[in-house]
Amino acid sequence: MSRSELEAFWMPFTSNRQFKSKPRLLSKASGMHYWTPDGRQVLDAVAGLWCVNAGHGRREITQAVASQLETMDYAPPFQMGHPPAFELANQIVKITPPELDHVFFTNSGSESVDTALKIALAYHRARGEATRTRLIGRERGYHGVGFGGISVGGILPNRKMWSNSLLPSVDHLAHTHDLGKNAFTRGQPEHGANLAEELERLVTLHDASTIAAIIIEPIAGSTGVLIPPKGYLKRIREICDRHGILLIFDEVITGFGRTGSPFAAQEFGVTPDLLTLAKGLTNGCIPMGAVVARKSVYEAFMQGPDNAIELFHGYTYSAHPAACAAGLATLGIYEREGLLTRAKSMAKTWEDAAHSLRGLPHVIDVRNYGLILGLELESIAGKPGARAFEVYTKCFERGLLIRQTADIIALSPPLIVEPAQIDQIFSTLRDVLKSL
Ligand SMILES: Cc1ncc(COP(=O)(O)O)c(C=O)c1O
Repeated sequence: MSRSELEAFWMPFTSNRQFKSKPRLLSKASGMHYWTPDGRQVLDAVAGLWCVNAGHGRREITQAVASQLETMDYAPPFQMGHPPAFELANQIVKITPPELDHVFFTNSGSESVDTALKIALAYHRARGEATRTRLIGRERGYHGVGFGGISVGGILPNRKMWSNSLLPSVDHLAHTHDLGKNAFTRGQPEHGANLAEELERLVTLHDASTIAAIIIEPIAGSTGVLIPPKGYLKRIREICDRHGILLIFDEVITGFGRTGSPFAAQEFGVTPDLLTLAKGLTNGCIPMGAVVARKSVYEAFMQGPDNAIELFHGYTYSAHPAACAAGLATLGIYEREGLLTRAKSMAKTWEDAAHSLRGLPHVIDVRNYGLILGLELESIAGKPGARAFEVYTKCFERGLLIRQTADIIALSPPLIVEPAQIDQIFSTLRDVLKSL
């Protein structure tokens, strides 16, 4: 495509001018691979964007979507329903922790986050605790790009431009990343559970009666893969329980098998009150998100006259029929192919391959969990992100799609990845790192 043909599309989270002068285009996908328009094969080490968990081009999903669109293209979700929406909600609550059993559909992770925050605030109000309006996030957290999500999020460039327009009454806990103590940890780091006590400190500062909820990514992804220290999430849960604070797990990337369990909640043995989902829910092929709530949260709203709308919230495309068909087909594949737990059986191979990068030039940390990798590189003085961007572009030239955030490489391959492809991922990375 010519430069002028690339102009009209204002690309998201992209250096538009750099991209448009040297575009990287994809035009076809199947299994573990993409192809560029000139026919080059590219191994996908990031499942698109943490979403194509069952691999690309799954016919069961495309056929289910096509057949649904031919049968009924759209149905209004307000005061009306259609069977696949209820079926998908039922299938989702079969794999979430049993306490989480009501599903509210959205169209993205950002919408799921804003929905969960709104539900949390409204829940306390519905129960007569309207003073609970404070929300707590974490430094380096990523919760999408809605005003709610960037307010509780903790990534500077995502907040800076809008700093005067963020939600009021938001605090942040410190992040748990500590290279001094935890560099090159395999799995969960030993140090940092004590950082959960910061939540207790905020309760002492503001009083529990003012705090509605805390939102946490069990494994922070977009900020560069921060794995929770041993015991950290349990301590957060205990403090929430002690003070009546709702715990929201943002599982937009950790959901659907990424950690080796269906959800990080099960993997780490900590059940939140609200769970946000998206991405892997439809294998990335149709936009869809969801918030899964505890029964007690749902029931708090079920009061007043029977004909009253209990929650004034929803989207034109909540539970869109095509997305529901995609979700049902996707969950079917996950179940038949054992993909929600496959990361557990691949984790050792992944971990060993990942840690073989230790000692290569500029590598200051390798961290991993399930089928996730964070590879942290020493920044070039005065040029944050430049080193990892070079790795990113060189990998792409060599037929490997990775993800870069600042000077961290984050990997999350489709859960169908085979050992030979793991070898290819890490040997390409090794060659590129040596070539810097
Ligand atoms: C943890 C988390 N929450 C929310 C989002 C936002 O999802 P979306 O881009 O679908 O709005 C993301 C996206 O990467 C995410 O990683």
